[in-house]
Amino acid sequence: MLTDLGISLPVLAAPMAGGPTAPNLVAAAGHAGSMGFLAGGYKTPAALAEQIAAVRGDGVPFGVNLFAPNPVPASEEDYRAYRDTLLSEADRYGVHLPDTPVEDDDHWAAKIDLLLADPVPVVSLTFGLPHGDVVAALRAAGSMVVQTVTSAPEARLAEEAGVDALIVQSSAAGGHSGTFTPTRTPPEVPLPRLLRDVRADTRLPLIGAGGISRPADVAAAVGAGAEAVTVGTSLLRTHESGTSAPHKAALVDPDFDATVVTRAFTGRPARALRNRFTDRYEPIAPCAYPAVHHLTSPLRKAASSAGDTGLIHLWAGTGHHDAREEPVADTLARLAGES
Ligand SMILES: Cc1cc2nc3c(=O)[nH]c(=O)nc-3n(C[C@H](O)[C@H](O)[C@H](O)COP(=O)(O)O)c2cc1C
Repeated sequence: MLTDLGISLPVLAAPMAGGPTAPNLVAAAGHAGSMGFLAGGYKTPAALAEQIAAVRGDGVPFGVNLFAPNPVPASEEDYRAYRDTLLSEADRYGVHLPDTPVEDDDHWAAKIDLLLADPVPVVSLTFGLPHGDVVAALRAAGSMVVQTVTSAPEARLAEEAGVDALIVQSSAAGGHSGTFTPTRTPPEVPLPRLLRDVRADTRLPLIGAGGISRPADVAAAVGAGAEAVTVGTSLLRTHESGTSAPHKAALVDPDFDATVVTRAFTGRPARALRNRFTDRYEPIAPCAYPAVHHLTSPLRKAASSAGDTGLIHLWAGTGHHDAREEPVADTLARLAGES
């Protein structure tokens, strides 16, 4: 799969929505012999089209990642209760929280139309598994389709839907879990074991993800059946990353010594640095995505502007302490054991 795309480095740059992944990060990965994925999540189709044009101009292989709809609707009652609890935080920042749940699909159909009209080399999907017709249409348009899975049963479903390859994401991963069942927190299975479980069930190419921060982690994933790995957290502090300054600093701040899987920020399990917000709100946050994402979004934006690391969603995988401030190319080569 990698050689078909002209990729020589078995460490890929994962998509990271919300700021960290910008076209120059994806281009830098491509120029380093790796491949990056634009993060289509949370963007308008027009903004995504602009980013695709920017990377295409660089002439490197690249992918586009989308959130496949897999909503967990909020009950009015749970939403109201969580919103009421967050009002004191909102008052502190003078922001308004949506009165009623916002249940959107992140422009799914329009983004698929965009990718069918203007195909890209690779499309990666997370959060849910789209209908086989969508997979078939993307493949017919000439894209390779890659699905994020978090277990062997999910891998089987993705294979049945006709995808070309799987990203096998362990619970150690930073940011949202790609689980198909967001009402359940994914079990903490080490990546090599998860890869072996999935390998036993499918012949599709596997790309390992989650907690990879050292060359030995890459070797372990490859030894367990992965053709390549993909890293997110390790790139968060790189020069090309658009991660906010407070987030970059917190990743290596000894005061942030633990990560937790939490629904407090978005209503969907995601791994973040443990902070005041996760301690206080994880126990009461409803499982409801995307309503909780939209509920806390104004608060998180205000906290980011103010540098309030007690309230920002500091997405991080378990290997965050190893993230370095350096060019993307250096991180990818180092992890691949080439420097
Ligand atoms: C800040 C951040 C944002 C992320 N956003 C996305 C995303 O938009 N789409 C996606 O498929 N995965 C996303 N992920 C998960 C990564 O694709 C990848 O699975 C994960 O970073 C791998 O684990 P690691 O962070 O330990 O390297 C994100 C991860 C982080 C840290």
